Amino acid sequence: GAPVEVDVDKLEPGQQLTVEWRGKPVWVLRRTPSILERLATLTDSGRLRDPLAEVATQQPAYITGPLRSLEEEYLVVVAICTHLGCVPLFRPEPGSVGDDWPGGYFCPCHGSRFDFAGRVFKAVPAPINLEVPPYRFLSDHQIEIG
Ligand code: FES
Repeated sequence: GAPVEVDVDKLEPGQQLTVEWRGKPVWVLRRTPSILERLATLTDSGRLRDPLAEVATQQPAYITGPLRSLEEEYLVVVAICTHLGCVPLFRPEPGSVGDDWPGGYFCPCHGSRFDFAGRVFKAVPAPINLEVPPYRFLSDHQIEIG
């Protein structure tokens, strides 16, 4: 499939957009400073299965670190649950999916949970983190996926 160009110029902090790439939905989320703070706390919390994405390769080799992105402000992930392939829901409000919910993606099919780095929580059916597709920045507001 052809690469897909995404313009994030009009994306407000805390918002995401969905694009289609190779027949799959891909989210581009503009993370806020408070989201980034919560992600940093989660990394060492013991609540994530693979917080540094060391166990399963679900991302290109040039994507490293706990935020699983090229730029900390933008998350790019395939919007397909790694359990059985449902599309998770965007649930950014802390507390909206249980008291200890920090905001993230919640899969309505069997309850899998992912944070805003696409990292899977422990004790859910999904075994591994959400997939990060290959992508690059063409400019500071243009992303090419694929
Ligand atoms: Fe997402 Fe089963 S498909 S939890």
